Amino acid sequence: MHDDLYRIEGLRLSLADMTQKPLFGATPRIEILHGLDFSVRRGEVLGIVGGSGSGKSTLGRVLVRLLEPSGGRVLFDGQDITHLPEPALRPLRRRFQMIFQDPMSSLNPRRRVGGIIAGPLRLHGLDGIDARVDRALDHVGLPRAFRHRFPHELSGGQRQRVGIARAIALEPEFILADEIVSGLDVSSQAQVLNLLEGLVRDLGLTLAFISHDLSVIRRLCSRILVLHQGRIVEQAATAALFAAPQAAYTRELLDAIPLPDPDQPWA
Ligand SMILES: Nc1ncnc2c1ncn2[C@@H]1O[C@H](COP(=O)(O)OP(=O)(O)O)[C@@H](O)[C@H]1O
Ligand SMILES: [Mg+2]
Repeated sequence: MHDDLYRIEGLRLSLADMTQKPLFGATPRIEILHGLDFSVRRGEVLGIVGGSGSGKSTLGRVLVRLLEPSGGRVLFDGQDITHLPEPALRPLRRRFQMIFQDPMSSLNPRRRVGGIIAGPLRLHGLDGIDARVDRALDHVGLPRAFRHRFPHELSGGQRQRVGIARAIALEPEFILADEIVSGLDVSSQAQVLNLLEGLVRDLGLTLAFISHDLSVIRRLCSRILVLHQGRIVEQAATAALFAAPQAAYTRELLDAIPLPDPDQPWA
C-alpha cells in the first residue's frame, strides 16, 4: 500500500478540436492539460479548484481513466495505469469511482434506484447484491424503500445521494466528485457536504473534490490544487492557501468569494 494513492507526473492531454473540424484530413488536436505534477495522499480530501474551462473535469476523467493521457504518467497505488488497456483496467475500476455533476443525466430515468445502484455491482460480478444496495442506501441516509423509486420521484439532493450510493456500493478507495453540489440549493449543498465528510471518515475514503467554488472547497478539503488554463498554478494546505495565496490567479479566486464579514476576510 502506497501513501500516495495517486502520483501524477508530467501529465499532458490533447483532445480532438471539435470547433476546428476540417472537411478533409485529420482533426487538429489541442492540448488541454500542459504537464501536471501532483499526488493524492491516501485518506486526504483534495480540492481541485479553477475557473470554467481550466481543465478540472478533464483532469478528473484522466484520474479515473475515462481519458487516456497523451504524455506523462499516472500511477495508482504504485501501478502505472497511464496507458493500461480496458481489460487490465477492469479490476482496478472498482477501486476508483466518479460521482458526476448532474445526477439527472447520470442516472438512467427508466431504472429504479435499486437497479441503478446494483448495475455496477453486477458488472463487477459481486455477490450479495441486495445487501450491498441496502448498505449503500443506509450510508447515504436514504430509506431502503427508495430502491423502488425512479429518479424523477426524488429531489435533487436525493438524486445526488443515489449517485454517491452507486459509487460507494463498490467499496472504492478513491472517489472523484466533479461539481456535485453546484446544482443544489444551499441547504441541500450543506447536507451533501456533511454526508461526504462522514463517508470519508467512516469508510476511510480518499476524495478528490472538483469545484469552481472556493468556499465549498474550503469547508471540505485539507489541501487544494489550483488549476488555471490547464496548469497547476498553486498547491497548498487549505489554511496556508487562504492565509497566504502565492499565485496571482489564486488571489483573484479568493477576491471573488463573497465575504460574510468584510472586517474579518478569512476568519
Ligand atoms: N471533447 C472536447 N473537445 C474539445 N475540447 C474540449 C473537450 N472537452 C473539453 N474541452 C476543452 O478543454 C478545456 C477544459 O475543459 P474542462 O476540463 O471541461 O474544464 P472545467 O471542468 O475546468 O470547466 C476547455 O477549454 C474545453 O473547451
Ligand atoms: Mg467541469
